Amino acid sequence: MTADQSNPALDLSRLPRHVAIIMDGNGRWAKKHALQIAMGHRRGTEALRDIIRASSDMGISSLSLYAFSTENWGRPATEVEALMSLMLEFFHSEIDELHQKNVRITILGDKDALPPAQKEALTTAETRTQANTGLRLNIAINYGARAEMVRAARMLAQEVSAGRLSPEDIDENAVARCLYTAGQGDVDLLIRTSGEMRLSNFLLYQCAYAEFLFPTVLWPDFTLAHYHQALAAYQKRSRRYGKREE
Ligand code: IPE
Ligand code: IPE
Ligand code: MG
Repeated sequence: MTADQSNPALDLSRLPRHVAIIMDGNGRWAKKHALQIAMGHRRGTEALRDIIRASSDMGISSLSLYAFSTENWGRPATEVEALMSLMLEFFHSEIDELHQKNVRITILGDKDALPPAQKEALTTAETRTQANTGLRLNIAINYGARAEMVRAARMLAQEVSAGRLSPEDIDENAVARCLYTAGQGDVDLLIRTSGEMRLSNFLLYQCAYAEFLFPTVLWPDFTLAHYHQALAAYQKRSRRYGKREE
């Protein structure tokens, strides 16, 4: 039985292994509802819960979520503070259930620049769930793909200068193991909500052959039905990787 009963168009045996989501549109959602921006972010966090649970239940291998970019520090201080406190709330309220569901959490990005409480909550979530074997849940916080690639170059250079690696041995696998997503496959499907069509510095290396979907729905309004639609649309794509179709 491969079809999802709630969505017969979905073939559960051909799901993307790695889904990445740029959760965009919280600000516009708040504006549309004449609410403060923090409320948009709060509703965005609520939308997230169902998507994580469904991904875990469907057996998707990796789910990467863009929560806070290196560029988002440039937003007004009150908004950054609201995002930081929501982050803390999210980890405190979800960690038990995620752990119970065998979810393994990995933070993509530099935790060192975060306030101490956030850094601790994120590190605890990673440590507590590191032996779990279910969904790999990657949460990108203070993440930028260029910074990630610079970090990988530095790690490789250090290995070379320590004599553990020779420059000829630097190949795509060597680069991939220095990324935050080490050990996980490339992104198969990237979804960005709110109609914006750009990557905004998210997973540039890992998205080399990803399929892209840009639904216009604002992130706080993104439901399981939208997620199923996106997965069904992915299943209609023909992935050729530069070759001729069989
Ligand atoms: C995405 O929503 C959430 C974060 C960047 C943290 P936005 O806040 O970017 O929403 P818009 O783009 O202003 O609508
Ligand atoms: C990307 O969205 C970052 C997150 C969703 C966390 P932004 O809203 O920050 O990106 P731009 O500014 O529209 O490119
Ligand atoms: Mg935005």
